[in-house]
Amino acid sequence: MNYLIGIDLGTSSTKTVLFDENGEVIASAGKEYPLYTPQNGWAEQKPEDWRDAALETITKVVKDSGVNKDDIKGLGISGQMHGLVMLDENGEVIRPSIIWCDQRTEKECEEITEKIGKERLIEITANPALTGFTASKILWVRNHEPENYKKCRHILLPKDYVRYILTGEFATEVSDASGMQLLDVPKREWSDEILEKLDIDKSLLAKVYESPEVTGTILPEIAEKTGLSTATVVVGGAGDNAAAAVGTGVVKDGTAFATIGTSGVVFAHSSNISIDPKGRVHTFCCAVPGAWHVMGVTQAAGYSLAWFLENMGASYTLEAKEKSCGVYDILNKEVMETPIGANRLVYLPYLNGERTPHLDANCRGVFFGLSSMHTRADLARAVMEGISYSLTDCKDILSEMGIQITDMMACGGGAKNGVQRQMMADMFDCEVNTVTATEGPALGVAILASVGAGLYGSVEEACQKLIHKDPEKKCDPVPENTKEYQKYHQVYKNLYPALKEQYNALAEL
Ligand code: XUL
Repeated sequence: MNYLIGIDLGTSSTKTVLFDENGEVIASAGKEYPLYTPQNGWAEQKPEDWRDAALETITKVVKDSGVNKDDIKGLGISGQMHGLVMLDENGEVIRPSIIWCDQRTEKECEEITEKIGKERLIEITANPALTGFTASKILWVRNHEPENYKKCRHILLPKDYVRYILTGEFATEVSDASGMQLLDVPKREWSDEILEKLDIDKSLLAKVYESPEVTGTILPEIAEKTGLSTATVVVGGAGDNAAAAVGTGVVKDGTAFATIGTSGVVFAHSSNISIDPKGRVHTFCCAVPGAWHVMGVTQAAGYSLAWFLENMGASYTLEAKEKSCGVYDILNKEVMETPIGANRLVYLPYLNGERTPHLDANCRGVFFGLSSMHTRADLARAVMEGISYSLTDCKDILSEMGIQITDMMACGGGAKNGVQRQMMADMFDCEVNTVTATEGPALGVAILASVGAGLYGSVEEACQKLIHKDPEKKCDPVPENTKEYQKYHQVYKNLYPALKEQYNALAEL
């Protein structure tokens, strides 16, 4: 039997899974790490934490599985996108990584738009200048920490730093590189025009591969440390959403998924490049060679619920402890007993600013309509509804762009929650399915590794063999619910324009 490893470098933890060639999980291990917010709107992590988590979890799955190292044919890495890792001439990390949800680079985004031109930027990178993307983070370091910029010899994305540790190679792949705002997304190569205009030396950037291509093999010292073989190939891998798409079988036209992790995404596969001229959704290269995807992003999806539980949900935690059950068991039960609209309470999930559809770093979260009659259950329901309204906004833009979705999947931590899945089916007004495999991005990159290692001829062929829908978890829309949600969604949509000016005023204080 052949085996494959998928590593998913997330925002809260790294998860490593060892699969057999049929996609069955043989061993899995995870390790959490902190996220630092040194200032309001900033978000940083330590690349060394990612390195340690990857090495520790690889070592654990290899050991726990007991499989022969020579049978582990390939390894793929998926990762949180956009984060900036800067290395010096010795390959040492220069400063903490400024990660995807950091919002400090508004001025640098203006600088990028001014130097390249708004329309030209969208033509080449398929996106307007965004605070979350890597290019503005690079410029921020150059503007604010020139001594660090001077030392920088290599710029890598989070998962590509882990690849460098494993293989010694400076490499990336098209799906993740698309989120740097330095790639010519239609041509799938670095854009000389953007690099020249922003005065970024191309030699700082890694070599770009397609996602299933082999980028290197395991270094001898890493093989010794982890129990891997030096013959195991490491493929390009993918950004977390492109990897989740492969792990969910979203690899052909008509297929799409909605995911709720820390952020939330609605992602549709497209064999033709399709760009929103207003830049409200991202168009990126996808992990299937020669294809793209269009996706809308909710900055704080699962994060909204996690924030709510951490800061206002102490009573849930306490009760769960007393009853020896999960926090979500109690929360879901209460949410189901609360009517649609949370007794006239609407939550805007803009804790970290918002991408789709507003592209606004200054907007912030809101509970609208708060009344003395509201309970924790109303707040919890409003948060879950707010997340789903935001994802519905993403889906609506894809439809407006003419992207046909005939097959909607749900994945990510939030999609494991049947209540949230039903909300999505009702709001999207379409059937929402899940797959039997729950490993999402880790399985996605293991599938890419299986193609790179020659076990399958193509990503599509591997998905057809390995990915199956779970008929028991199918959610059908309930027409009355759809109608009811539409009324509250309209109020939700009206709130942002009503608050926009005040968000800016607040940000300036
Ligand atoms: C996508 C994005 C997030 C991160 C973190 O553009 O920023 O999905 O990859 O998960």
